[in-house]
Amino acid sequence: MNSLQKHDFIDRAVEVLKENDQGGYTIPTKGLYPYQWNWDSCLTALGQAHYDEARAWTEIETLFANQWPDGMVPHIVFHVRNDGYFPGPDVWRTGRPVATSGITQPAVAGFAVRRLFERANDKVAAARRARALLPKIDAWHRWFYANRDPKGEGLVAIVHPWESGRDNSIDWDEAFQRVPTHGVEPYVRRDTQHADPAHRPTKEQYDRYIWLVQHFRGLGWDNSKLHDASPFQIVDPGFNAILIRSSSDLADLALDFGEHALAASSRARAEKGIAALERLWSEPDQQYLCLDRVTGKLVDSCSIGGLMPVFAAIPGARAYSIARTIEKWAEKASYVVPSHDPDDPRFDAKRYWRGPVWLVVNYMIADGLVGAGETAVADRITQSSLKLIEQSGFAEYYDPLTGEPLGGGRFTWTAAMVLEFLQAA
Ligand code: DGY
Repeated sequence: MNSLQKHDFIDRAVEVLKENDQGGYTIPTKGLYPYQWNWDSCLTALGQAHYDEARAWTEIETLFANQWPDGMVPHIVFHVRNDGYFPGPDVWRTGRPVATSGITQPAVAGFAVRRLFERANDKVAAARRARALLPKIDAWHRWFYANRDPKGEGLVAIVHPWESGRDNSIDWDEAFQRVPTHGVEPYVRRDTQHADPAHRPTKEQYDRYIWLVQHFRGLGWDNSKLHDASPFQIVDPGFNAILIRSSSDLADLALDFGEHALAASSRARAEKGIAALERLWSEPDQQYLCLDRVTGKLVDSCSIGGLMPVFAAIPGARAYSIARTIEKWAEKASYVVPSHDPDDPRFDAKRYWRGPVWLVVNYMIADGLVGAGETAVADRITQSSLKLIEQSGFAEYYDPLTGEPLGGGRFTWTAAMVLEFLQAA
């Protein structure tokens, strides 16, 4: 890419970020996602920092201003009313001062805050803002292990597929059959009015998503009960890897600020998590797999969730194998990294998290691969990501076989990741 093209991409990415900016938070895209989403915001802040550091900090601070008293950071904050999204605040009914959902999302804030701090030009402001966020992020991490790892195994479970961010992954199919659909209140989906229904989760999956929301609502959103009461308890290696990476980044930040006790407890959680991840390694598949905590069995589904642990400090031999698995998948796809193994008959190149490429996942995997010394595969992912933008614009996700743009358009975190990739290119 020449420097003229590079500048054009930067301008276009900043334009997308600014048009979705609501002042103190950013919506993922107009129409489909009109509120603040947790991991979207944290990754968006990395993009914003390229042109406005102060605004980037605000993005994460607004999210944490809506942290629950028990430490949970919700997956959606419903700052303003918008009837274009389902399920809105009237379905969740969590009773928070500013309405929020009642479940969480991948804990990428610790990673994002450390990165913002390290790169900051205004170090004084960055130190002040990072320091104020430190105990809040730590409280969220502690919440995870207290509520989602009741036996102290070192790995946390998700209790709703939306928590993973990978809503309709093939990883959930089997466990999801345990979630009933009877008693689901009538509803009208809004997502399929904004995006092609063939690229979105199915009606059956939506019924089960909503059943779980109603079930948890019936428990008064009491997080001490949700885990055990959920028929869906999955230990997702990708989700855990993000939490582990954030714990380790938080430990480093805490050390910078002389917070030794916080640093030590955070480091200990990260180390325990890395050791516990071994239980999810599949030698025949050369990647990690999800664990179904209800059955106690590994889930036979090779998805991106099993490659994402490279984002955490896994052993070198594991990172090496993951890089080879990505190379193998790349033989079947024109663009990497597909969200599911293209050799699996259940792979679907167009349907959300059942095959398409997502730039945020590419970013985290590439970052982890660089850390593990697998720079050639990381570079391939970066180039593939930029090619997708060049060909198909700032889409929500992309068909790994054709590069076709899918889902919502003019997508915030895609634009943020382009700014990040261009810096690495
Ligand atoms: C949705 O509505 O599609 C979201 O992914 C749920 O968070």
